Amino acid sequence: MHKKIYTTDNRVQHFNKVDVNEKLGKIIGKKFIKYRETWDKVNKYELETDFPLFIQLDMDQVCNLTCGHCALNSVDNLSDFYSSDKLSWEDYKSIIAEGEEHSCPSISHTGFNEPLLDKDFERYIEYAYQHNFIDIFLLTNGTLLSEKRAKRILDSGLTRIRFSIDAASPETFKSVRGGKYEKVIKNIERFLDLQEKGGYKLPVTGVNFCKINLNEHEVEMFHAFWEDKVDMVSVQSFIPADSEQRNLQFYPSDNFGDSHLIDDFQCPQPYQRVVLRNKNITPCCSLDTRLTLGEIGKDTIYDVWNSEEMIEIRRIHRNKEHASNPACKVCAERIHGIPVLNS
Ligand SMILES: C[S@@+](CC[C@H](N)C(=O)[O-])C[C@H]1O[C@@H](n2cnc3c(N)ncnc32)[C@H](O)[C@@H]1O
Ligand code: SF4
Repeated sequence: MHKKIYTTDNRVQHFNKVDVNEKLGKIIGKKFIKYRETWDKVNKYELETDFPLFIQLDMDQVCNLTCGHCALNSVDNLSDFYSSDKLSWEDYKSIIAEGEEHSCPSISHTGFNEPLLDKDFERYIEYAYQHNFIDIFLLTNGTLLSEKRAKRILDSGLTRIRFSIDAASPETFKSVRGGKYEKVIKNIERFLDLQEKGGYKLPVTGVNFCKINLNEHEVEMFHAFWEDKVDMVSVQSFIPADSEQRNLQFYPSDNFGDSHLIDDFQCPQPYQRVVLRNKNITPCCSLDTRLTLGEIGKDTIYDVWNSEEMIEIRRIHRNKEHASNPACKVCAERIHGIPVLNS
């Protein structure tokens, strides 16, 4: 597998069997290739588009697993962002309509939740596909991926799927995620099998491993198990959800922060995307309410994207002045800062 490190924060290593974007370009065609070229420019702060290239929807904050490293289970003071109320179908349709009007290419329906808990979740993917989104992403813990749902997902128009597993043995899976490893592996293998037998080129497939103290000894095993089965194996560094989580509880032994990266910290997310979560419209995945720039149903994505505040956030990141925004300053420290010892 080829090793490629590219993400918003350089904290994820992707081991690709193939270049997944090249593969998608060949399957989807010119429109996709053009969108990825634009994405690359945007990622380098070279271009500002009129509308985000990516809509990241965090449709509720409910899950069926108990991963301790996940903000859902470990951080208490995020109530402004947590809601078990699902984004309504009406709001969803207007988001899709606005995206379609501005030729937005890409959407994800996963945030701090488990999307497949919604028994009819597939309709969101189908609807986005019917409305001309060309890159549709799903991240799931795989616990609810029955044969019937796997078949529906394969027919939905989904372009990328990633399964979060974080373990290579039942014991470690139980301690990290709190569920049944064998069942999840069976679900994923059945999905891959149905995909192969059905001759489906899409979605491109991947597995995720968030490396923490409890599972770091299984990274190699995980890699060896999956490398020939999926297009991409991703190993993600633990990132504390907020300063509360910056204690030593989850850090793996080779990650004790890299504070020297803080001064030059830049984040490309405000160039790429809007995140829609619990009625809030924000420029990135941060859970800091100071970054809320609009409200779903009241403000359009277009207006928020082109607001003075959003333009200013893009400017400071292009110029490596993140610290002039208090929320971005906290975020840089959260990502690269040295763990804080529990008092
Ligand atoms: C929040 S989950 C939501 C989707 C779905 N429930 C799942 O587990 O894939 C998305 C991804 O974030 C990862 N994640 C959770 N907490 C994290 C943390 N503190 N640092 C880095 N990644 C984390 C998970 O392991 C998972 O791969
Ligand atoms: S399965 Fe995903 S959303 Fe649920 S607790 Fe684990 S990481 Fe968080």
